[in-house]
Amino acid sequence: MPLLEVMGVTKEFGGLTANWEVSFSLEENEAVGLIGPNGAGKTTLFNCIAGHFPVTSGRIIFNGRDITALKAHEVARLGLARTFQIFQAAGDLRVTENVMVGAFMRTASRREARSKAEAWLEFLEIGQAGQAMMTELPVAMQKRVALATALATEPKLLLLDEVAAGLNRSEIETIIPTLRRLHEEKGIALLLTEHVLEMVLALSHRVIVLESGRKIAEGHPEAVMKDPEVIRAYLGDHFIKRQREAQNA
Ligand SMILES: Nc1ncnc2c1ncn2[C@@H]1O[C@H](COP(=O)(O)OP(=O)(O)OP(=O)(O)O)[C@@H](O)[C@H]1O
Ligand SMILES: [Mg+2]
Repeated sequence: MPLLEVMGVTKEFGGLTANWEVSFSLEENEAVGLIGPNGAGKTTLFNCIAGHFPVTSGRIIFNGRDITALKAHEVARLGLARTFQIFQAAGDLRVTENVMVGAFMRTASRREARSKAEAWLEFLEIGQAGQAMMTELPVAMQKRVALATALATEPKLLLLDEVAAGLNRSEIETIIPTLRRLHEEKGIALLLTEHVLEMVLALSHRVIVLESGRKIAEGHPEAVMKDPEVIRAYLGDHFIKRQREAQNA
């Protein structure tokens, strides 16, 4: 039984169809990349899966439960966590306290929440920042805190919405192995959207491509990146035409 099954999900905003009959599944402990150009509907699909938006039609099954109509906190309690593309730090919290907010989903004990928060901060290699105020942190650290907060809810599946956005090259290079360890050592399944394709290719067993709300390709990362339909979606018909002309020249 797949861990997540997205079945014909359509999401409309007024006249705009942000997701159109999108179907895919994700196995336990699998890492799947969800890619596509700006506005393809990746974040919207995350919002539908995580219970932030009601779907227009379709069904979503997580860990054997129909979660289609559930609210975000109910979905999170079942073991599905997410990070946000745009992270808003709660300015008056210290790092550890911020992560404890996640841990409180599983425990009422402050002591237990604190020790869980500290363990995740250690795992993400920012243990030394526990006492810092959220707003004092550079973006890369804030992203790791957001990740720790999601992890403290003890998810079976983590949706990562552009973790690499706003990071520089060396920060991207250091977060890739951290995410891989998360997946390999902690057994957490990942669904990640990312414009940094190098990161998607490094982490994903499988890639799904959205364009204008529709799934246009799915498969092994390298095969998908060679798919002319995917190249066209990313680079436009113009690029394909030029490439053909170059090949024929
Ligand atoms: N809350 C909303 N209300 C109305 N339209 C929305 C809303 N959220 C997203 N959209 C629209 O849905 C479409 C898909 O947007 P979405 O943010 O899901 O794309 P994306 O693939 O995440 O893009 P990006 O790569 O830029 O993050 C866009 O046309 C967007 O303007
Ligand atoms: Mg997005």
